[in-house]
Amino acid sequence: MCGIVGAIARRNVAKILLEGLSRLEYRGYDSSGVAINNLDGVSSHRAVGKVQALRDKFAVEPLDGKIGIAHTRWATHGKPTEANAHPHFSGDDLALVHNGIIENHEPLRRELKAKGYEFKSETDTEVIVHLIHDALKTEPDLLKAVQNTLTKLHGAFAIGVVKNDENDRFIAARKGSPLVVGVGIEENFVASDQLALLHVTDQFIFLEEGDVVELTRDQVTIFDDNGEVQERPISVFNHNVDATDKGEFRHYMMKEIYEQPKVISACLDGRISETKVLTSCFGAESGFLKDIENVHIVACGTSYHAGMVAKYWIEDLAGLPCSVEVASEYRYRKVAVPKNTLFLTLSQSGETADTLAALRMAKELGYLTTLAICNVPSSTLVRESALTLLTNAGPEIGVASTKAFTTQLTALLITSVAIAVENGLSAEKEQELVQAMRSLPAYVSDALSQDAHIKVVADRFANKHNALFLGRGTMFPIALEGSLKLKEISYIHAEAYPAGELKHGPLALVDEDMPIIALVPHNDMLDKLKSNLQEVAARGGELYVFADKDTDLNNEENITFTEVPKVDSILEPIVHTIPLQLLSYHVAVVKGTDVDQPRNLAKSVTVE
Ligand code: AGP
Repeated sequence: MCGIVGAIARRNVAKILLEGLSRLEYRGYDSSGVAINNLDGVSSHRAVGKVQALRDKFAVEPLDGKIGIAHTRWATHGKPTEANAHPHFSGDDLALVHNGIIENHEPLRRELKAKGYEFKSETDTEVIVHLIHDALKTEPDLLKAVQNTLTKLHGAFAIGVVKNDENDRFIAARKGSPLVVGVGIEENFVASDQLALLHVTDQFIFLEEGDVVELTRDQVTIFDDNGEVQERPISVFNHNVDATDKGEFRHYMMKEIYEQPKVISACLDGRISETKVLTSCFGAESGFLKDIENVHIVACGTSYHAGMVAKYWIEDLAGLPCSVEVASEYRYRKVAVPKNTLFLTLSQSGETADTLAALRMAKELGYLTTLAICNVPSSTLVRESALTLLTNAGPEIGVASTKAFTTQLTALLITSVAIAVENGLSAEKEQELVQAMRSLPAYVSDALSQDAHIKVVADRFANKHNALFLGRGTMFPIALEGSLKLKEISYIHAEAYPAGELKHGPLALVDEDMPIIALVPHNDMLDKLKSNLQEVAARGGELYVFADKDTDLNNEENITFTEVPKVDSILEPIVHTIPLQLLSYHVAVVKGTDVDQPRNLAKSVTVE
């Protein structure tokens, strides 16, 4: 939700900022802007639409200066218009960019209006810049004026501030929204995500909650929320920079779908031996596994669907109760925590506001411990959880989550087996499961080989307005994930139901215009699912079945059959995910939507 970049250098920072914004577009892309401080004052460009619209403005009228801030927006308060785009100004000499939400913006706005401030936008952000301007009247030092202002704000923020007579520094701060400092040689930077700065540095400092930072060309000084100077460690980024290139693919999403065999291997690497799950992957404190009596999983969106699959695994393999809940619900209710409950969060980004709030709440509720399964090692979620299992999927740029989901499932499978081993799973069964996991990357590759066939099937969805996904058992959360993927990127309304629920209502929707996507695993539910399909066929529904050939569904009339490799049932949810990702991708391409940056969405949801 919004991305910010800031830079101070001995060279013109315009190109650095624009490149940073392009790399942050995944966080929001309805409008963008840049403010650059040069010896003549602070000048800016803002534009509605993607960062390219801003680049076009720079092409006509370049801005030149050695200090600047920039922003790409995902609208919360006020429509995506140029007036609402950041940077926001107070007067023409003080500019600010902001990621987050200021919850008390209304009383602050009233207060500022009473003092004579005029508002030019509908945003919550504009109050911050006027408050700093007001604070400067009694405290002329910009750093101190910012620090004083932040104490008045409720909500979440990461900000960058420039002022026209400050030619040797700019100020940034974070609380509740991510912000990282990039350390260069005679130049320093800030950004919402280190990916935004990989073209200028690989050295990063992760700011803590409440930190305010003063950046000059030669120095980065960090103050905590008590105003005390703090030393924070520098980390060196070790991802392959090429991971952010599209390579031979037309879209990041397709590249990320095809990366899955490789990243699932990376997720398994070092976590399983030939016969066992290696509990050392949970760190030195893996002793917690034997004490777990319950598991609470909390997450959002796609990550929540991964959690739903894990409930089946944990209850089946370990025999322990497991509940799964969306973070935005969990955080606002009174939760009963049974003795010795593991609190497990799932997040690709590790910055999702609701998941972070749920974790912070859980830490006060007496859980056994907190474990984060996450893809971003430097994220807030990882830093604030007692234990971490990284998914090792590498940067995921496409807004629609693909490889992050299947690696979450892989990490959850490792976790489920590890918990089960402490609860009586036999060594023989553990070995069987580990052998299955070792074959997972190859099966995922097999599933990808259906790509050309699925592309043809996708053509038939181009004119559809609705779709229904069905699954039973672990295939139900996969049906939910398939329907989320389809609606996210193709804008086709899709719903998912446990197949047994069909006759309790949704069957009324079925007619010749309703495609039904059925996920048919080869297990003891097969015959029951076949009956559900008969119910659909009898009502003229158009059936798209994803199953292995031994189900014998490939020869049925009125069924469009897509083959999925036959695998151990524990792997079915992961392997069945692949064709659904491909289906939604190809449908979106046929419909001509913006696959990597679908409308109204953002990759990292750092606001409530
Ligand atoms: C999935 O395609 C979506 N982008 C979205 O549902 C996402 O999974 C959700 O916002 C949670 O994000 P997280 O995994 O980074 O916490």
